[in-house]
Amino acid sequence: MAKNELKELSPPRKQPAMPEGFRQLKTQVAGHTFEESNAEAVGLLQDPTAGCVLKPMGKPECGERELRFYESLAAAGASGDNDLALLRGHVPRFYGPLKLVVNRRERTFLRLEDLTRGMSQPCVMDVKMGKRTWDPESSPNKRKLEEAKYVMCKQKLGLCLPGFQVYLPKDAEEEEEEKKEHPTILRHGKDYGKSLNVEGFKQTMALFFNASTSDSKTRRVGTELLLKEVLRQLQAILSWFQRQRLLHFYASSLLICYDYSRLANSNTQKSLLNGHHRLEKDDDPANWVRVRMIDFAHVYPADRALPDENYLFGLRSLIEVVQSILHR
Ligand SMILES: Nc1ncnc2c1ncn2[C@@H]1O[C@H](COP(=O)(O)OP(=O)(O)O)[C@@H](O)[C@H]1O
Ligand SMILES: [Mg+2]
Repeated sequence: MAKNELKELSPPRKQPAMPEGFRQLKTQVAGHTFEESNAEAVGLLQDPTAGCVLKPMGKPECGERELRFYESLAAAGASGDNDLALLRGHVPRFYGPLKLVVNRRERTFLRLEDLTRGMSQPCVMDVKMGKRTWDPESSPNKRKLEEAKYVMCKQKLGLCLPGFQVYLPKDAEEEEEEKKEHPTILRHGKDYGKSLNVEGFKQTMALFFNASTSDSKTRRVGTELLLKEVLRQLQAILSWFQRQRLLHFYASSLLICYDYSRLANSNTQKSLLNGHHRLEKDDDPANWVRVRMIDFAHVYPADRALPDENYLFGLRSLIEVVQSILHR
């Protein structure tokens, strides 16, 4: 890993002043983060006992737009029969705003379900959706800046990769036991994502799913389960987007999370290798794989009640990339 990449993603050495019971979200792979030299810069917090993360409300317009988005979902029909209510299943659960003093300043945070909760070795990827990542109120300058970022992937795939972390088995020369107990962790930020072309993006996705490192039969079985579960959850999000005419999402992401420790989980393998297709409840991949939409700072009412073709284009190409990894 390049030195600047390490610097980019390492938590600052000087720990920010944090209220009791909270800590920095160590698995944050993208977005606004804490900075050692700037006490004003705040990243996500984690409340491990409650299974929540706390996202700081950033720039006023963005923070308020995101708060309104989550509040409108919470207020949508309880019967679950309208499109807003159905969207709740594809985003983190929302537990309301909360004021906290961080770095001696009071700020408001959005309390959200921690999508990595319960994962002992969380692999996390933030995929930003759409060829167009500037919203309808952007200045010409902001629009230009956005169009110049992640050009290769964004224009061809309608996707870009601001960051990810993945656990990988140690080099093949290592002892089997050693490999199982001490995987290595690889983290990359936006500089890496910006360097990717389409082929590089596809290879990175395969790496993230441990599909290029599946050197043992047990892990191959786990990777297949993982890819099928990711596809199932992506298809469910696609079905929602194909129907809805309410909202357009700019610069929003999909967060893909899974637990590396479950890739080689003995019960999962046994039941599959023995041909038992009914998995124990705890082994159901839905318990260790989560694909959810996040980052709603730039969500707008749908223009002329049209479908969100910009998001749909990226989502379809993401599904194609994952399918091609599964079927190769
Ligand atoms: N609900 C969540 N659970 C776990 N991690 C999250 C959650 N929401 C955000 N994150 C982490 O924080 C990062 C930044 O979140 P995001 O909402 O995109 O913030 P920003 O507006 O700063 O881009 C994500 O890439 C992810 O690593
Ligand atoms: Mg983001």
